[in-house]
Amino acid sequence: MLKPIVTDHPMICHKVAIIRDKNTPSKDFRQLVSEIAMLMCYEATRDLPLEDVEIETPMCKTTCKMIKGRTLAFVPILRAGLGMCDGMLAMVPAAKVGHIGMYRDPVTHTPHEYYCKLPSDINHRDVILLDPMLATGGSAIDAVNAIKKHNPKSIKFVCIISSPEGIEAFSNAHPDVQIYTASIDECLNEDKYIIPGLGDAGDRIFGTK
Ligand code: PRP
Ligand code: URA
Repeated sequence: MLKPIVTDHPMICHKVAIIRDKNTPSKDFRQLVSEIAMLMCYEATRDLPLEDVEIETPMCKTTCKMIKGRTLAFVPILRAGLGMCDGMLAMVPAAKVGHIGMYRDPVTHTPHEYYCKLPSDINHRDVILLDPMLATGGSAIDAVNAIKKHNPKSIKFVCIISSPEGIEAFSNAHPDVQIYTASIDECLNEDKYIIPGLGDAGDRIFGTK
């Protein structure tokens, strides 16, 4: 089982504190989620393979390192994962993007998949799944199940806020998938919201409440 990687760089911590604030408006929340995703992208792509490339500078020929191949696919879980996608694409513009639509039943808290469209060559790609929130873990677990049916090269999961319960459930279901999270919070409440968390990420990104 892979231990979650907590991306607690001061720049990320600072931005996470602002999005937790209930007085942060949607416009700022959206911008900050995108910036946090951009910073987390560095960590999640740290192990990308490099290859030697011959370059000619204005001075002479030299050998440099560049990322080998173009094999990434980002898969945001709708809706809230969409808020992270632009930040990731700013770092890796050549990546392909798939979408998985999931919503949690408000009473049972179990996830329901309503959409899935993945790149046709996903079996040749390393997938980075995106969702700001890992609460019970149900949505992310089912999203990975859906992606695994298409045999990607690898899967990583990048979330901003996670709960201990979600980390445990996800890691048990998918011990091969590395989690990157900016914070592991205290617990879930009786409505399965993360405490202290930031509330409903989708509503805060899109201003729907
Ligand atoms: C939120 C969040 C995750 C899910 C996490 O989505 O973006 O996808 O809940 O909860 P879980 O770990 O308990 O499954 P939500 O279902 O509220 O849908 P939305 O993004 O459309 O608002
Ligand atoms: N989904 C959210 O958006 N927030 C939570 O705290 C839990 C699930």
